[in-house]
Amino acid sequence: MTDQGDGTRVVHAGLPAAVPGQPFLPGPVLAAPYHLDPVEGPTENGYGRPDNPTRRALEAAVGELEGGTVRAFASGQAAITALLLSVLRSGDTVALPSDGYFTVRAFAEGTLRDLGVETVLVPTAGPYPSFEGVRLVLVETPANPGLDVCDLRAVVTAAHAAGALVAVDNTTATPLGQRPLELGADLVVASGTKALTGHSDVLLGYVATNDEDLIARVTTWRAQTGGIPGAFDCWLAHRSLATLDLRLARQSANAAAVAGLLAGRPDVTGLRWPGLASDPSYEISQSQMRRIPGIVSFDLGSAERVARFLTASRLVFAATSFGGLHTTADRRAQWGDDTAPGFVRLSCGIEDTADLLADLTAALDEA
Ligand SMILES: Cc1ncc(COP(=O)(O)O)c(C=O)c1O
Repeated sequence: MTDQGDGTRVVHAGLPAAVPGQPFLPGPVLAAPYHLDPVEGPTENGYGRPDNPTRRALEAAVGELEGGTVRAFASGQAAITALLLSVLRSGDTVALPSDGYFTVRAFAEGTLRDLGVETVLVPTAGPYPSFEGVRLVLVETPANPGLDVCDLRAVVTAAHAAGALVAVDNTTATPLGQRPLELGADLVVASGTKALTGHSDVLLGYVATNDEDLIARVTTWRAQTGGIPGAFDCWLAHRSLATLDLRLARQSANAAAVAGLLAGRPDVTGLRWPGLASDPSYEISQSQMRRIPGIVSFDLGSAERVARFLTASRLVFAATSFGGLHTTADRRAQWGDDTAPGFVRLSCGIEDTADLLADLTAALDEA
C-alpha cells in the first residue's frame, strides 16, 4: 500500500477483506476468556491478555503505516518502559534526550538507576557524544516540548557503528509525519494518545520494529506484565486513525498560520515551529520528515500573562497533551518541565484557520 497516498492508506489500514453483510471495521471484541476447542485447547484466541482480535487489527493498521510489526500498549509510557525494560540489563547504558518527555527521564533516574542501568542525557539538537558502550539510544524528534529535531540518519549511523540499538519516539510526528524504520532506526515507540488517535478520549502506546528478536521480547514482556490496551480503546483508536491524514493536514496548516501570526508579534518571544524557514529545525525536518506537526511553542514572558491569555481565549482550551481536534495550550513549567515560566506549547486543532487566528489575536491583545 506504500504507493498509495496517505489518505487512502489510513482509511484502509488494518481492515479485513470485504465480506457481504459484515461491517467495514468490525466492532470491539470484548472478551477475557474465549471458548476453547475442548479437544485441541487454545488456538488463535485463548485469553484476552495475550490475544485480542480488535487489538491485532489496530496493530496491523499502525504496522502498515510505520512499516514494521506493532505491539500496542495501554499508554505511551507503558510502551516506552516495556521497550526499556525488555532490552536493558544491569550494567547497560541508555542514551535519552535531555529535552524530551520528562516522565521518561524520571523513570531512568528512578527505576532504571535502581536496576543498575546508567543514563546519558543528550540534547536532541546535539552535539552527540560517542555512543561507545551504549546499549540503546532513544531519541525523540521533534522533541516535546521544545521542538528540536535530530538528524536521524546521522544518529543511526553513529549508534550502529558503536553497536547500539536506536529507538525513535514518533509521538509528535506520527507515522505519516516520519518513518524512522525506513531511516534505519531499529525501533519506534510512541504515544498514540496524541495526534495518532487525536480525539482526546484514548490513552494508547505502541512499539514497532522489524527485528524478530526484539518483537518477541516486547511481546513476552507485554503478555507477562499485562500493560495491554482494552478492546474498546483499540477500536476507538482504529476508528480515529482513518482521519489521520485530514486531521494532520488541518493541524499543520493552522500551525503554519499561527506561527506566521506569532512571528509578527513583538510581545511573543522564542517562537518555534519546525516548518518555519527561520527555525533551527527547518532544514533537517525538511530532509527527513514527510509533514510538520501542528505544534508551536513560544514564550509569553510570565505565568500570569499565560493565565490571562488562556482566560481571554474562547477557542484555546487550557489542557496538557497535544495533537487533538481542539486547539489546546499548556504552560509546561506547571508540570515540572525545565522551561521558562511563560513557555507555552500550543497544539493547533482542526478549527477554521481564520477563527483561530482571530481568537489568538484578541486573546494576546487582551493578555
Ligand atoms: C513524546 C512523548 N512520548 C511519550 C509520552 C507518554 O505517552 P502517554 O501519556 O500516552 O503515556 C508523551 C506524553 O505526553 C509524549 O509527549
